Parts: sequence; C-alpha cells; structure tokens
Amino acid sequence: MRTSRNRCRRLSEALLSAAILAAAVRAGACAAEAPKEIKPDAPCATSACHADILQLKNIHAPAASNECTACHNPKGNRHEFTPAARGPDLCASCHGPLDKKKVLHKPAGEDCITCHNPHGSENKDFLVSPVPDLCSNCHEVAKEIAKGKSSHSIALEGKACLACHNAHTSDFEHLLPAKPMATCLGCHGQPIVQKGRTIPSVKNEITGAQSVHGPIRDEDCASCHAPHASAQIALLTAAYPATFYAPFAPETYGLCFQCHDQSLATDDTKAATSFRNGTRNLHALHVNDKVKGRTCLVCHAPHGAGLPHLIRGSVPFGPAGWPLPIRFQETKSGGGCAPGCHLPKAYDREKPVKED
Ligand code: HEC
Ligand code: HEC
Ligand code: HEC
Ligand code: HEC
Ligand code: HEC
Ligand code: HEC
Ligand code: HEC
Ligand code: HEC
Ligand code: HEC
Repeated sequence: MRTSRNRCRRLSEALLSAAILAAAVRAGACAAEAPKEIKPDAPCATSACHADILQLKNIHAPAASNECTACHNPKGNRHEFTPAARGPDLCASCHGPLDKKKVLHKPAGEDCITCHNPHGSENKDFLVSPVPDLCSNCHEVAKEIAKGKSSHSIALEGKACLACHNAHTSDFEHLLPAKPMATCLGCHGQPIVQKGRTIPSVKNEITGAQSVHGPIRDEDCASCHAPHASAQIALLTAAYPATFYAPFAPETYGLCFQCHDQSLATDDTKAATSFRNGTRNLHALHVNDKVKGRTCLVCHAPHGAGLPHLIRGSVPFGPAGWPLPIRFQETKSGGGCAPGCHLPKAYDREKPVKED
C-alpha cells in the first residue's frame, strides 16, 4: 500500500497536463491523499477516492453501497486491509457455495475473480470480459471456429458459448446444460432459417421414422458431428460428399467407413452387402464408379427415414433441387424401386432378378 501511495504522489507531481490528470482520476488513481486512518462511517468510494469503482457501468451491490469491509478486513482503524476470505469462500459468504453437481468448471472451483470483477464491470454479471472473449482467455475454441470449413457460428453470437455450456457446474459431461443429444435438439428440434437457407428439424426426421440410424438410437450426434467447427462440410468429423455424384475412393466416404466396412461397395461376395442381386453387389454398381459414382445420399438419409434401411423418399437433383423420387419397396429377400433415374428395377438375393 505504502509503495503505491508514494508512487502515486510522485506521479501527480510530475503530471503536466490536466488531461492526463483527468484520465488518471478516471482510472482510479489517487485524486486525494490516502488517509492513514479510516473513520467508522466514512464511505470509501467517493468522487475523490476509489472513484473508478463508482464509474463502472454495473456496480456490485456491496461495493455500490460502500460495504467494502464485507470483503476487505481493515487492520483496526488503519487504512490497511486483508481479504475477508480467499477464493470462492469470499463470495460464498453472501452467495452460498456453487450448486453441487457432477461436473465443476475448474476455474470456478479455484477463484471466482478469474471471471468476475468483485467491484463491478462494464459487462453483464460483472464479467471481466464478455462471452465469448472471456472463454477465449483460456480456450482456443473461438479460433477453431474462425478456421473451420464449416462451423457453428451460433457459438460466437448471442448467448454464444453459454448456449451449450454452463459457466460454473453441470450434471452433464462437458458442462452441457442437458444430455448431449437433448442439447442439440434444443435448437434442432425445429427448422432453422439461416441466410436464406432452411435447415430442417432433425427431431422431425427421427421422431416416428421407420428407420433411425444406429448412432442416433444411441443418442450420439458427436460420432458424426463436431460441436464447434470442422474441416468438412456440415460439421462432420470425417469426409462425406454432399453432391449427387462423386468419383469413388474409400477416403471420400471416410465418415461412413468409420463404422461400416468399405467392402459393401468394393467386394462382390455375399457377405459384403444385402443390396445385391444374387451375388452382384448393387452398392458397387451404383457407388463404385471412377467418374460418376452415385453418393450414399442419393439413396440414404443420414439421420432417419420414412422407409426401411434409411432409404429416403426423394433426393434433391440438379441445380433447382428437383425432388427426385426413389419409391423403394422392400421384399422378403430383396427390394425394388421406381426412381426418377431409371425404369423400375428389382433385386433378389436368393432368386436373382433377370437383368436386361
Ligand atoms: C465482493 C467483495 C469485495 C467488495 C465488496 C469490495 N472489494 Fe475491493 N477487492 C476485492 C478483491 C477480491 C480484490 C482483489 C482483486 C484482485 O486481486 O484482482 C479487491 C481489490 C481491491 C483493491 C486493490 C486492487 C484494485 O482493484 O484497485 C482496492 C483498492 C479495493 N479492492 C477497494 C475496494 C473498495 C473501496 C470497496 C468498496 C467501495 C471494495 N473494494 C469493495 C473484493 C471486494
Ligand atoms: C457482502 C455480500 C456479497 C459478497 C461477499 C459477494 N456478493 Fe455478489 N452480490 C451481492 C448482492 C447483494 C448482489 C445483488 C443481488 C440482487 O440484486 O439480487 C450481488 C450480485 C452479484 C452478481 C450479479 C448477479 C446476481 O445474482 O444478481 C454477481 C455475478 C456476483 N454478485 C458475483 C459475486 C462474486 C464473484 C463474489 C466474490 C468475489 C461476490 N459476488 C461476493 C452480495 C455479495
Ligand atoms: C470461467 C468463468 C467463471 C468463473 C470462474 C465463475 N463464474 Fe460466475 N459466471 C460466469 C458467467 C459466464 C456467468 C453468466 C452466466 C449466464 O449468463 O448464463 C456467470 C454468472 C454468475 C452469477 C449470476 C448468475 C447466477 O448464476 O446466479 C453469479 C452470482 C456468479 N456467476 C457467481 C460466481 C461465483 C460465486 C463464482 C466462484 C465460486 C463464479 N461465479 C465463478 C463465469 C464464471
Ligand atoms: C481462467 C481460465 C478459464 C476460463 C476463463 C474458462 N475456462 Fe473453461 N476450463 C478451464 C480449465 C482449466 C478447464 C479444465 C480443463 C481440463 O480439465 O483439462 C476448463 C474446462 C472447460 C470445459 C470442460 C471440458 C470437458 O471436456 O469437460 C468446458 C466445456 C469449458 N471449460 C468451457 C468454458 C466456457 C464456455 C468458458 C467461458 C464462459 C470458459 N470455459 C472459460 C479454464 C478456463
Ligand atoms: C452448439 C453447442 C455448443 C456451443 C455453442 C459451444 N460448445 Fe463447446 N462443446 C459442445 C459439445 C457438445 C462438447 C463436447 C464435445 C464432444 O463430445 O466431443 C463441447 C466441448 C467443449 C470443450 C471441451 C473439449 C474441447 O473441444 O476442448 C470446451 C473447452 C468447449 N466446448 C468450449 C466452448 C467455448 C469456449 C465455446 C464458445 C466459443 C463453446 N464451447 C461453444 C457444444 C458447444
Ligand atoms: C443454440 C442453438 C443450437 C444448438 C444448441 C445446436 N445448434 Fe446446430 N446449428 C444452429 C444454427 C443457428 C445453425 C446454422 C449455422 C450457424 O451456426 O450459423 C446450426 C447448424 C448446424 C449444422 C449444419 C452446419 C452446416 O454448415 O451445414 C449441424 C450439422 C449442426 N448444427 C449440428 C448440431 C449438433 C450436433 C448440435 C449438438 C452438439 C447442435 N447443432 C446444437 C443452432 C444450434
Ligand atoms: C451417422 C452420422 C450422423 C449422425 C449420428 C448425426 N448426423 Fe447430422 N448429418 C450427417 C450427415 C452425413 C449430414 C450431411 C447431410 C447432407 O448434406 O446431405 C448431416 C447433416 C446435419 C445437419 C444439417 C442439415 C442441413 O440440411 O444442413 C444438422 C443440423 C444435423 N446433421 C444435426 C444432427 C443432430 C442434432 C444429430 C443428433 C441427433 C445428428 N445430426 C447426428 C450425419 C450424421
Ligand atoms: C458411428 C458409427 C456409424 C457411422 C459413422 C455411420 N453409421 Fe450407419 N449405422 C451404424 C449403426 C450402429 C447402424 C445400425 C446397425 C444395426 O441396426 O444392426 C447403422 C445402420 C446403417 C444403415 C441401415 C442398415 C439397415 O439395414 O437398416 C444404413 C443405410 C447406414 N447405416 C448408412 C450409413 C451411411 C450412409 C453413413 C455415412 C453417412 C453411415 N451409415 C455412418 C453406425 C454408423
Ligand atoms: C442406389 C441406392 C444406394 C446407394 C447409392 C447406397 N445405398 Fe446403401 N443401401 C441401399 C439399399 C436399397 C439397401 C438395403 C438393402 C437390403 O437390405 O435390401 C442399402 C443398405 C445399406 C446398408 C446396410 C448394410 C448392407 O450393406 O446391406 C448400409 C450400411 C449402407 N447401405 C451404406 C451405404 C453407404 C455407406 C453408401 C455410400 C458409400 C450407400 N449405402 C449407398 C441403397 C443404396
């Protein structure tokens, strides 16, 4: 305390311009000499002393009401102080301890003032900086989002990180406000209109669907999607073409072949796939073409579908997105379709359909 007071006096003597003096006062430098003693009822923050606190946009109630000694214990009547308590205990004396939940955000267990200014601040909840900047003091997520080929720009706007994370504690992994899939469906339970595009409701795609994809039955959106950003389209965790045609290479379908054997599109044995006529692999026929392979999305929806085996009712085709119908019908040992691409065709694993 003494050192800083001396420094302060030297500084004020040296101040040449009134403008600098005014700035120093605004910043809370000593406008008046610090008293050696404190008087019981004298306010600490006035226009002359500790004025910086009174100039904050949002002032913490005990500081605004000059209850400084709630947090600063004076040594007798001397103008010297020790903290009333340290770390979270200081705040707990009025706010109580944080809720006991399964996951505790490490800094919240250590010291509340890493994120909150105890006197007040320009930001809501006396945060030392607004979210997401606050989080970026320690996490690289905002940088990842800026770099991603696709990203959840929502993570940087509005509630930003707090749309999906609690700041202090949570009963769910990664400080999520709810179970992971419920967190996603909180927003993706209805269509989202963004920059002229409508992202359909994922909840509608999977509720009451005839087939729901295995990982979604396991409530695991994260097996295919990164939460913040990704180097692939649609926040995907691995490669997947969003086009109708793509030259075939197993790497092009890295996402699907994480869990499914690529032999379903490369191998002509019975074991490889059920999408075959006798032993002829119809996945290979459609997909495995070096120039114009049809991609998985031509026939399959990623989340859920009104037909068996995740077969979609229709697929957008061409620049205008004509909904090309598939008209798939399953039989006991095969199936058939009457799509917009060719005449009706059928396949049978046991009694191969004669091909023309
Ligand atoms: C809710 C608790 C709390 C209240 C109330 C409070 N302070 Fe503080 N104050 C702190 C804590 C904690 C620190 C240490 C901050 C740090 O280490 O960054 C601090 C630091 C300070 C400092 C030194 C650092 C600085 O910010 O300049 C001064 C001076 C100060 N307080 C004055 C006051 C005055 C005057 C009041 C009343 C108007 C007051 N405080 C009310 C908790 C409080
Ligand atoms: C002496 C009692 C006291 C202490 C100690 C105290 N606070 Fe407060 N705090 C209050 C009061 C009173 C309010 C105003 C509550 C209201 O308006 O409902 C408040 C409000 C807040 C708010 C605004 C949000 C809200 O609930 O209204 C935050 C954030 C906050 N305090 C954080 C802290 C932190 C962090 C600490 C520890 C550094 C701390 N407080 C220590 C009394 C205290
Ligand atoms: C990692 C940063 C961080 C730390 C550390 C932290 N907080 Fe917070 N706190 C926040 C953020 C962000 C909000 C705003 C939450 C929101 O809007 O959902 C907040 C909100 C609050 C609020 C007001 C809303 C509420 O939840 O009641 C209080 C009071 C509060 N914090 C107290 C504390 C206390 C006490 C501690 C220490 C035990 C603490 N905070 C530690 C970031 C933090
Ligand atoms: C002062 C540094 C600091 C700040 C500020 C901070 N965090 Fe953290 N955060 C940590 C530390 C340390 C961990 C624990 C990391 C570990 O255990 O590996 C953590 C863990 C997390 C986790 C949990 C990771 C997991 O997988 O369980 C999430 C989510 C998180 N922080 C989000 C946030 C958000 C959102 C904000 C802004 C509101 C924020 N953090 C602000 C330091 C910080
Ligand atoms: C749309 C929801 C959502 C938003 C918005 C979001 N997160 Fe996350 N975050 C998650 C999910 C889900 C996980 C768990 C990831 C997993 O399961 O692999 C996670 C994990 C984390 C982790 C731990 C793992 C890691 O990547 O380091 C941190 C830290 C984190 N988030 C910080 C942030 C920060 C900081 C922001 C704001 C810039 C933010 N998050 C915004 C959903 C979100
Ligand atoms: C707070 C609301 C919110 C939550 C929670 C949320 N999203 Fe999103 N999501 C959006 C918005 C808004 C968009 C539009 C893109 C953007 O962020 O600008 C989007 C876009 C997407 C996209 C498409 C990205 C693209 O480039 O086509 C995917 C995939 C996605 N979200 C998956 C998820 C997953 C998985 C979760 C759970 C971890 C989740 N979302 C949670 C709001 C949310
Ligand atoms: C098996 C992998 C997989 C799982 C699991 C998965 N998705 Fe997807 N998701 C995809 C693929 C692939 C796309 C891209 C589809 C396309 O562009 O045709 C996609 C697209 C999306 C889109 C963007 C749709 C659009 O039209 O832009 C959202 C939003 C989305 N998923 C949310 C979710 C949510 C929420 C979950 C969990 C309930 C989830 N996904 C689970 C693979 C998956
Ligand atoms: C995280 C692992 C995982 C990923 C990634 C994945 N799947 Fe699946 N898939 C499964 C599981 C598990 C099943 C359910 C298997 C069962 O019911 O026996 C399944 C089932 C299917 C089915 C339906 C099978 C049937 O006969 O009903 C199709 C079609 C399918 N996946 C296509 C895809 C496509 C296309 C991709 C790439 C976009 C993909 N999968 C990515 C795990 C995954
Ligand atoms: C031309 C349409 C079409 C295309 C393109 C297509 N599939 Fe299929 N797929 C089907 C049909 C039809 C079935 C159902 C076979 C049955 O059980 O009768 C199926 C079944 C599946 C199954 C269940 C297991 C099996 O092999 O029978 C998986 C997994 C699968 N497909 C993944 C994929 C992946 C991954 C891609 C892209 C690399 C893809 N499909 C492309 C039509 C297609």
